[in-house]
Amino acid sequence: MKVIKVHDYQDMSRKVANIISAQVILKPNCNLGLATGTTPIGAYEQLIKWYEKGDVDFAEISTFNLDEYRGLGKDDTQSYRYFMNHTFFDHINIDKKRTHVPDGLNEDSEAACKEYDKIVAEAGHIDLQLLGIGRNGHIGFNEPAEAFSKGTHCVDLTPSTIEANARLFNSADEVPRQAYTMGVQMIMHARMILVAATGKDKAEAVRNMVEGPVTPECPASILQLHNDCVVVADEEALTLLEGK
Ligand code: PGA
Repeated sequence: MKVIKVHDYQDMSRKVANIISAQVILKPNCNLGLATGTTPIGAYEQLIKWYEKGDVDFAEISTFNLDEYRGLGKDDTQSYRYFMNHTFFDHINIDKKRTHVPDGLNEDSEAACKEYDKIVAEAGHIDLQLLGIGRNGHIGFNEPAEAFSKGTHCVDLTPSTIEANARLFNSADEVPRQAYTMGVQMIMHARMILVAATGKDKAEAVRNMVEGPVTPECPASILQLHNDCVVVADEEALTLLEGK
């Protein structure tokens, strides 16, 4: 696991965008695993700027998002599909048919998860998987648990995640209680993993991810076992790291 220390959110966003654009330049038809949340917004904005300048071309890439709320569809402003379209896809020359997010509107969770596993499997492998990290160490919506998950599955969100995500809804009551998410094993299959983290409230999760025991109680800790995982984190997120 390689840790790159950056000054702040803006610095993190530019470095993350640099790594993603290098991947797209090296392999124009690559499969990118993408993430939602506050963390990657700055990186997406930077990539849009470079696209507008003609520095990066997304025409041939395919994307696979980590997760989606169960029950929300593309027109719901809180859905992750809506987020991806409005934050990134609508502003670049991507072929929307090659952008994938679990189908939140399929209430049959078994069918929805199986379908997403199939879509990802047919793509072969993900070249670069972008991840944020939850305050509780979750990746995607893989919450702390007794075992690491494998394929796409339906999860009950923990109270801490519901509270963390409530800022994006009118109230915590409106946050869906379940989500479909790629499993930890699927995430680990990506050729390269890029974790972005900023702010003090991520410091404990970042320490557990980088220096703690590998345990499903901190799902991100398994990334220590990946042979090409890069963490881009700012000073605040690294404050609790012993070897910083
Ligand atoms: P955030 O979420 O980027 O909004 O902090 C990260 C996560 O929960 O994975």
